[in-house]
Amino acid sequence: MSTPTRRRLPDAPFLAAATGAGPGRRPVWFMRQAGRSLPEYRELRAGIGMLESCFDPELVCEITMQPVRRHGVDAAILFSDIVVPLKAAGIDLDIVPGVGPVIANPVRSVDDVRALPRLRREEVGAVTDGVRLLLDELGETPLIGFAGAPFTLASYLVEGGPSRHHERTKALMLGDPRTWHALLGVLTDITVEFLRAQITAGVDAVQLFDSWAGALSLAQYREFVLPHSERVFAEIGQAGVPRIHFGVGTGELLGVMGEAGADVVGVDWRVPLTAAARRVGPGKALQGNLDPAVLFAGSEVVDREIRRIAHEADEAITLGATGHIFNLGHGVLPDTDPGAITAAVELIHDLPTPL
Ligand code: CP3
Repeated sequence: MSTPTRRRLPDAPFLAAATGAGPGRRPVWFMRQAGRSLPEYRELRAGIGMLESCFDPELVCEITMQPVRRHGVDAAILFSDIVVPLKAAGIDLDIVPGVGPVIANPVRSVDDVRALPRLRREEVGAVTDGVRLLLDELGETPLIGFAGAPFTLASYLVEGGPSRHHERTKALMLGDPRTWHALLGVLTDITVEFLRAQITAGVDAVQLFDSWAGALSLAQYREFVLPHSERVFAEIGQAGVPRIHFGVGTGELLGVMGEAGADVVGVDWRVPLTAAARRVGPGKALQGNLDPAVLFAGSEVVDREIRRIAHEADEAITLGATGHIFNLGHGVLPDTDPGAITAAVELIHDLPTPL
């Protein structure tokens, strides 16, 4: 990997919290902060497909900037999707509105795995061009790059689309472990290449989304997923950018997800940050964990919940967490009032910073 010229953003609260330095204020950003909650997003995307937008550097830049301008969040997250590197590598898939990623030819046999392509760096040139445009626009605001983790990508490829129970994925994993590990090996290679491309282009941090890992037991995660996610973090480690690891419903997995090698562990709303700090153990920062539905409950409730989380975050730090990045427990829901998001950012920034 060629050595990227890193931006130096010593005062950025998001990077300070992620690396265990004391931030000047509590940093906050929101998963899915770009997207359908914003009228300016809906206007810009009118008549343009999701994947088409992800491969248009100007659109990637503009859509990524929209929530930064509107809400004043402490980090931008690259507008893209976890299936973008799969599409770029040549896998036939689409993102269907209201459904999610749909795969034309699901991967279910050893021959299907053997036929999978690898990702070549130039195939995500539109994404890295978008990153370069963003670095000029963002000023002092850090940019988070991301990728889907091997398990969550495998779930889409094996099921053929979104799945509630992940039954075909688990059938392959438990019934044919050799093929499973071969599949996750290929997906790990693609994920590493996609993250390295973004890091080389200059992103300031990365997040690995293992959104559906919460469907697994601890034993299943350890045997069938951990070695692969561990390799992702190890192979991007030398770049020195903070690495965040996130999944939904992963309360029982927080410790082992921390073991995979990230610097920051994302927590959904089901587990208080104090319990998360105990499960993850000392030496890592935490990110989260406001329930996205709380943003529908009115300002008094939002205010109360934000103060509770800030208090729990401070306790988590006394328990050994190295920092806290405010976020939701999962993505912004499409019908969220953008005004409620801006108000949440203002409140979080007005709270006293822990010592
Ligand atoms: O957070 C951000 O603001 C950055 C953008 C982002 C998108 N997808 C844009 C998007 C990120 C980080 C993702 C990651 C992603 N994509 C994940 C992991 C995060 C998570 O939510 O757990 C997953 C599981 C996907 C797969 C995916 N792509 C789903 C489930 C959907 C929603 C389908 C729908 O229409 O309800 C998508 C499409 C998608 N990705 C949209 C956006 C803004 C909506 C498409 C649209 O606006 O038409």
